[in-house]
Amino acid sequence: MRLTPGAGHDVDLDDVDLLDLDLYTSGDPHRIWDAMRARAPLHHQTLAEGREFWSLTRYDDVCRVLGDHREFTSERGTVITHLGEDDVAAGVLLTSTDPPRHTEVRRPIAPKLTARAVRSWEDGIRRAIVRFLEPAVESGTFDLGEQVQRLPAIVTGPLLGIPEQDWDGLVQLTSMVMAPSDPHFKLGSEAATLAIAHHELVDYVTQWVKRRRSDGGEDESLLDHLMSVRAGGAPLTDEEIALDGYSILLGANITTPWTISGTVQALVEHPEQYARAAADLSLVPNLVEEGLRWTSSACNFMRYAVHDVEIGGGTIPAGGAVVAWIGSANRDGTQFPDPHRFDITRDNAKRQVAFGFGPHFCIGAPLARMTLRIFFEELLGRCESIEFAGEPQHLRSIFIAGMTQLPVTVRRRRPDGRHRGGQRVAGPATAGADAAARPAGTTDSGCPAIAAVLPQQVPVKANSGF
Ligand code: HEM
Repeated sequence: MRLTPGAGHDVDLDDVDLLDLDLYTSGDPHRIWDAMRARAPLHHQTLAEGREFWSLTRYDDVCRVLGDHREFTSERGTVITHLGEDDVAAGVLLTSTDPPRHTEVRRPIAPKLTARAVRSWEDGIRRAIVRFLEPAVESGTFDLGEQVQRLPAIVTGPLLGIPEQDWDGLVQLTSMVMAPSDPHFKLGSEAATLAIAHHELVDYVTQWVKRRRSDGGEDESLLDHLMSVRAGGAPLTDEEIALDGYSILLGANITTPWTISGTVQALVEHPEQYARAAADLSLVPNLVEEGLRWTSSACNFMRYAVHDVEIGGGTIPAGGAVVAWIGSANRDGTQFPDPHRFDITRDNAKRQVAFGFGPHFCIGAPLARMTLRIFFEELLGRCESIEFAGEPQHLRSIFIAGMTQLPVTVRRRRPDGRHRGGQRVAGPATAGADAAARPAGTTDSGCPAIAAVLPQQVPVKANSGF
């Protein structure tokens, strides 16, 4: 999706098709959302075959839809790709439950992912990012969009307890769920791509749980933790663990890389902001917030109205599908003055809603924020400058905004110029030495490698996104 909107032009909102994939691949959705916020804050669209949905684009309305489960339920699915089909994992999957069940499942997982808890992973994540960045920066020119897709698996794989040899396969599968129409990930039809990916991902986690149960080993990984979670006084069933593991895997893999490519693109377009952040690394946390706002990589989530709801100057009837456009809320000028200006010093950038709002607020936000902060500290610390080396290619997805290709050329900083201002960051030499000291076959979290288990024949259970 084009993140810097083109010149303003008249938009005929009666003609707009918000589910047109071309809009996100080669169009300019921000100009359409601008017009919707101004003229049709509650927008209604009926598809050719009769399915319909309502859209909300203003910041306050988006927060209300995402934040109030009594008016807008998650239990029938939350991803627009499945508009009109009820979620078969409703009431089970973390993402497609409402309180109180949602609170019961989320409460025991959340302490593992707080800002404080994830801090203990910082050194391991930094080493993983350095190992990832070093060869790319050394090569001078590389496709950041393509390469960065592996990063979350490298970072979260060990935390989840997933062996290294499985990462590439899982990245591919999660990408298939997120963008089943993108030529990079499509296998036959969109429906077939989704079905294959859901099946294999749920099955992967199911087999993983079986293995861990028979190993009986102790581990600190997130998936191990899910096995000890109790909801409503009872342990999670294997199916529930598989579905929640699937949610975390998807959540982790499909968002962070796109935020990186969107933010890097903005920094290349604004070299003065790149130079400013590189000169003062204490600006990086705010750069991360502005990058999240700017990219809004999970650009919408869906709910269904529980009863007739008045909102945005109109009424959504009971049972109506409602799409909250996060990408639009994050460019609402009533909240973010001059919203289409990328500004790493914006003083309220942290009000962005890229991680959602309310009970389903992203459980991985502290981990994502830390990963992004470390990535930009290491990139800015290593590279004097960064330029485009080719045309970006946008992901063909309604749901996720990002770039599958973003060729860049970087100029490496002289070793003595690495730490200019701001906080000191761990250097590549240390990271390399630590990595070399790890026992063979283990990851940063120390998880032993276990065999890949893709794919087995089990029925497809979930049709949710993450
Ligand atoms: C830049 C990175 C990320 C972005 C932009 C993002 C965005 C979001 C958003 C908007 C939601 C709310 C969904 C809703 O309201 O229905 C969400 C939920 C969720 N995210 Fe993230 N996410 C990111 C990273 C992560 C990571 C690293 C993880 C895993 C550790 C993760 C796991 C989840 C899970 C499991 C949920 C469901 C929470 C619930 O339903 O209570 N996300 N994310």
